[in-house]
Formats: sequence, structure tokens, C-alpha cells
Amino acid sequence: MISPSAGELWGEARGKVILVGEHAVVYGAPAIVLGVGTAARARVRPAPEARLRLGEREVALAAGAHRGKLPLGAPEEARAYAALLDALGAPDLHAEVTLALPAGVGLGASAALAVALARAVDAAARGGDEGRAARVLAAAQAWENVFHGNASGVDAAAAYHGGCSWFTRAGGVEPLVPARPLRVGVAVAGPAASTRRMVEGVAERRRHEPERIDTIVASITTLVHAARAALTRGDEPALGALMVDNQRLLSELGVSTPELERAVAMALDAGAFGAKLTGGGGGGAVVALLSDESEQRVLAAWRRAGLFCFAAMT
Ligand code: PMV
Repeated sequence: MISPSAGELWGEARGKVILVGEHAVVYGAPAIVLGVGTAARARVRPAPEARLRLGEREVALAAGAHRGKLPLGAPEEARAYAALLDALGAPDLHAEVTLALPAGVGLGASAALAVALARAVDAAARGGDEGRAARVLAAAQAWENVFHGNASGVDAAAAYHGGCSWFTRAGGVEPLVPARPLRVGVAVAGPAASTRRMVEGVAERRRHEPERIDTIVASITTLVHAARAALTRGDEPALGALMVDNQRLLSELGVSTPELERAVAMALDAGAFGAKLTGGGGGGAVVALLSDESEQRVLAAWRRAGLFCFAAMT
């Protein structure tokens, strides 16, 4: 944990979970996304040359005008940091970022890192209030593009705004207002899995069985619309039941695992309204919709099984 001292500027950002709709979203379905927890914190201070510390790792950039002209062989973090500084017209800064959520398990840690850093750098560059969201998100996207090619932007939007969003590939991100704040639990149930490989796996199955996969995608599309309606009328039991349907369909898509199924079953047995894998699957995290009463029971069940978990209100 890093602690503040005088003269430093700070940024924070949330993690994210996909409440419903992953994988189908690749084929045009909507998804509902929640910003959860504090996933990343960044601090920056002016320095003679730009440097970035990420946990144990530190990269340095050449000073001033040369920092953006890094060779292609330079570490990705250095190229990403140079892109982010340039996007914000920032001076050379020494930055330090810490993650509070595990990376690579579908909780948006990488976008949160980028947004927390962009927020702190924007403050140092005296960006001002007007247009801040667009500026910070564009800088975070410049960072993300170095690692992930063309990121959809949904993780960065959730990291910046928190709250609840409706996302489609065609239309981007739109805020959604639940009738009541949603209480969710998140548990990391399996090792990190490559989202790209999971997406390719679904595409491969679709080549062999187009009708079966398209039927599943259509069912997920219908249930995401129903989930939006349940959320806006504050009907948690209905929303939870839709998450359980979504889990069954994700399992039919071939992206669930026995570990994910077990973590989902534990949450349901402990009284969650609903639970499912979140993100690419093949490992990674599950999300459960909780009530005041079930929250501690669900977290205790996951902890007894040795899973990293936390609860959040959105
Ligand atoms: O694993 P995550 O949290 O990055 O989520 C991936 C969501 C997918 O729908 C599986 C892929 C995508 O690009 O939308």
C-alpha cells in the first residue's frame, strides 16, 4: 500500500464485473457492466525524467521531447506510459501504481490501472474540470491500445464512472440507473485465463454448429433486456434468476469450468439471488447478486473454500 505525502497527486479507479451478456456481446448483444471496488491507485510527482513503477517493476523514459520516440522493442509499460503522458500533454512525472485486485481474471484491473494513472497525470498537467472525463478516458485508451490492440472501452468507462452501464459494441456505453443500489459479491474462482482464447473457442464452436451457438446468443440477448427491466424496477429475485439462466447458457457455450460452477453453487446455497461467471470464463471470477442478509453468508462460504473475494455496492 502506498501512502500519500506532500506535493503528490493521486488518482483512483474501479474494477468491473459483467453482470450479464459476456461473449454474446461479441455478436452484437448488449451487456450490463458494473464498476466495483477500488482496483487501482496511482500517485505522481514532477521528476527530471519520466519513470513508472508498477509493483516491483520500474521503467524509465528518456526526458522531455524524446520520451514518445521509444523504439518498438522498448518495454510495453514504457511505450504505454509515454502514450498516456503525450495524450495529456503532461510534463515528465514519476508515477507509482498499485493494484488492489488481481490482474487477468476479468475484473478490469488493467483498465483501472490506466484510468487511475491518467487521473493523477491529468491533475499534474492541470487539465481542469471541463472535458476531464473524455480526456482521461482517451489517455487510458492510448495506454490500453499498447497492450490490447483495439480495446472496446467498456472496462475504462466502468473504471472511470463506476456505477452501472449498458454496453453494446455498436453503441458504446450508456449509464443505467438501478431502482436501488446493487449489492454484489465477487470471488476469484480459478486461475487467469486468456479472454482472447475463450472468445476464439466460441467462434470455433460457432463455425461447427452455427445454429446452436446463434440460438444461445439470441437467448442471452433476450435475457439481458429482461435483466435491464428487472434492474430498473428493483426486482432482485428476477435479476438473480436471469443471472442463473445466463450461467447455464455460458456453460453451453463451453466457457465455464468446474471451479466456476462450484463457486456459483456455493453462492446460491448461501442465499444469493443469483450468480454466474463474469468475463471471458475458462477460469477467473464469479459474480453473485446479494442481499443485506446473504452478503456475509456468501463471503464466508467463499472464504472457507479459500477463494479471494469481496463485496461491493453499485
Ligand atoms: O474477460 P473480460 O472481463 O475482459 O471480458 C471479456 C468479455 C467478452 O465478452 C468475453 C469478450 C469481449 O471482448 O467482449
